[in-house]
Amino acid sequence: MGFDMNYEIALAEPADAQGIASMSERLIEYGLPLSWDVPRVVRHMRRRDSIVIKAVGRDSGRDADALLGFAIMNFQQDAAHLSLLAVEPDCRRRKIGRGLLAWLEETAVTAGTFFISLEVRTRNTAAQHFYRTLGYDEMDRVVGYYSGIEDAVLFARDLRVYTTENFD
Ligand SMILES: CC(C)(COP(=O)(O)OP(=O)(O)OC[C@H]1O[C@@H](n2cnc3c(N)ncnc32)[C@H](O)[C@@H]1OP(=O)(O)O)[C@@H](O)C(=O)NCCC(=O)NCCS
Repeated sequence: MGFDMNYEIALAEPADAQGIASMSERLIEYGLPLSWDVPRVVRHMRRRDSIVIKAVGRDSGRDADALLGFAIMNFQQDAAHLSLLAVEPDCRRRKIGRGLLAWLEETAVTAGTFFISLEVRTRNTAAQHFYRTLGYDEMDRVVGYYSGIEDAVLFARDLRVYTTENFD
């Protein structure tokens, strides 16, 4: 759908934290108490078990390094948790979300972590469609997960299903 956008994925830096926190507030946490403020985003950039990445690129009216999207993933003992992922509304359906997720999945597999989980707001059917399209299965529903205001749909993907299928 539409044209693909020229963008690059890179590790986010503390100077990006304000833009990332603002995107999270506008695009993910709207209507909820803000939990991803600037200090928390910076903490995740510095934590050894987390990674914060950004998609940057030139779009009409934007600078070359404009923040188009971002994602935050936390690596746990045997699994990784996708905490946040968002793309600016006017840059959607240009494969940026898919690119950010693929980058994180590749990193997880390289680290020997094959199981990825995430939560989506129940009313966010667009994101649910996005994750289903990209191989994630709906595992559960968590009542009141978002500050008691909204339920969550829990999605997960076992990357081994895809990485071993040619070796039967
Ligand atoms: C979910 C989100 C990250 C997708 O980003 P994106 O860059 O538009 O996604 P892509 O262009 O890579 O889409 C990949 C595929 O997912 C599916 N998809 C994406 N958005 C969709 C939508 N609104 N409705 C239905 N399917 C959708 C499509 O199959 C799409 O492929 P296609 O465009 O070739 O049909 C973006 O909509 C977003 O930022 N939403 C707000 C924040 C959010 O909900 N984050 C997730 C929870 S943390």
